[in-house]
Amino acid sequence: MEDPHPNSIVLRGIFFIKAYFVYVVLGLIVVRGLYRRYASPLRHIPGPFIASCTRGWKFWHVYRGHVETNFIELHRKFGPVVRSAPNEVSFASTAAAKDIFTSGKGFRKSDFYWVFPPPENPDIFTEVREWKHAQMKRFAVVPYSLSSMQKLTPSIEETERLLLQKIDRFTASPQAECDLGDWLHWFAFDVLGEVAFSCSFGFLEKGMDVEGAIKLIDDMQWYDGLIGQVPWLHYILRLNPLKPYVPFMGVSKPSLITRLAREELRKREQEGADLEVNQQDLMGQLLKAHAGSPDKFSKADVFSVAHGAIFAGSDSTASTMQSFFHLLLSHPSVYTRVVAEINEAQNAGKLSPMVQYQEAQDLPYFQACLKEAMRIRPAVGLNIERVTPPQGTEIGGANYPGGTTCAVNGWVLHRDKARFGQDADVYRPERWLEDNAKDMERYLFQFGGGSHLCIGRNLALLEINKLLPQLLREYHFKLVHPDRPLQYHSTFFVVQSGLKVFVERRSDPKA
Ligand code: HEM
Repeated sequence: MEDPHPNSIVLRGIFFIKAYFVYVVLGLIVVRGLYRRYASPLRHIPGPFIASCTRGWKFWHVYRGHVETNFIELHRKFGPVVRSAPNEVSFASTAAAKDIFTSGKGFRKSDFYWVFPPPENPDIFTEVREWKHAQMKRFAVVPYSLSSMQKLTPSIEETERLLLQKIDRFTASPQAECDLGDWLHWFAFDVLGEVAFSCSFGFLEKGMDVEGAIKLIDDMQWYDGLIGQVPWLHYILRLNPLKPYVPFMGVSKPSLITRLAREELRKREQEGADLEVNQQDLMGQLLKAHAGSPDKFSKADVFSVAHGAIFAGSDSTASTMQSFFHLLLSHPSVYTRVVAEINEAQNAGKLSPMVQYQEAQDLPYFQACLKEAMRIRPAVGLNIERVTPPQGTEIGGANYPGGTTCAVNGWVLHRDKARFGQDADVYRPERWLEDNAKDMERYLFQFGGGSHLCIGRNLALLEINKLLPQLLREYHFKLVHPDRPLQYHSTFFVVQSGLKVFVERRSDPKA
């Protein structure tokens, strides 16, 4: 067709774009990428070329499921400070991580966290407004304290007993394969049901992932971890107002865990505040906090904090226990030594029928094995991200402009040779019995740091310190596939599978 306005530059432009649309779009993407790479004050920082142009590089690595190992390799190749996205810098040194986590320096959580549900009422983990996060956390500190958690010991022990009963079944035949990883996973979830709402999810009882609830959480976290790399995609996907009308995106029904949490809150609202039985659990304690300051800590906050505990605390605790066992059972000399220590404590009458938290603290080699597992395989596999304050700040002796995303990854930090020794890549629990152990401990980031330090660590350490020595005292474990590594992928947490063992009851723990 003939051009009706042959001299119009605008029209010529439009015809050109129509004719070469794909090339124009590609050209714009390239120009934008190059602009982001070279116009940025971060341009001098080494890193993969593509990563400095587009977040697509990180998106791809999160999609592949092994960000933690990718970032270990990345830092080996490019050094301790790497540009891992157009506006993001990843740090490998523990000293830099300390700078980033120091409270009061004005860092804030990045938009990565905003993608995690629930969008209408964020919990302590997902809240990105620092003032609101601090307010919520203030109300949750007492309910989450070690002394509050210790009051829940009876229900934790009830769950432990149920686990022991279930594991006992595998001792009947030396050929019976027990998926210890699954049982630890179900244990971690059931404990949280008890701790948060005084109800069991029934995973241990049924010996299965009831209603696929755990798989659902894994899938959701896979989405969160991935879309969190490019948060605006969240508007097109989960927040899309058209979602209910698009067949494959439809509205999913609430999970078993969400249903139970809602039901429990509703029951307590109906029955009033003097519901003696459940005063001690997390929801009961949070409701008490709400009653004292309803304007600052709403009912919705109670729900989101208690409900959020399940999501933040289950995979993380399970993953830590699975790593502990797999590392231990793959290192026979370490296994022998830790069992000998437990036997000695048992023989000296220092262990109760249900091992207590304090008793486990007096098992130095066990503690060393636990710290070493948390060091070499921390439960969070994705990067923890913070944004520098508007005026910019100093990290590890260099200045970074305001609004820069700073990323740290526990798997990378915990291999810092300057801190953990030249053999930092190697599993060696003995390092925690050496002179510099106290110093190393200050640089373990398995629970994050600063104002966002994991609020559930007391509960996690309570259940881990009770259960693991108990299992080692009662049973002898042997890996079914001693040469196979655990299979895992990082969504936010490191979700693991394949911890299959043969179990024998230790008739005489003194032996
Ligand atoms: C061994 C088990 C656990 C590990 C390794 C772990 C690890 C972490 C890490 C690394 C963070 C910081 C995340 C960040 O800054 O992006 C964190 C935060 C958090 N964790 Fe844990 N966690 C564990 C158990 C738990 C448990 C049992 C609960 C709850 C019952 C819990 C609740 C939370 C919450 C609410 C936050 C957000 C804290 C804040 O932003 O102030 N965690 N956890």
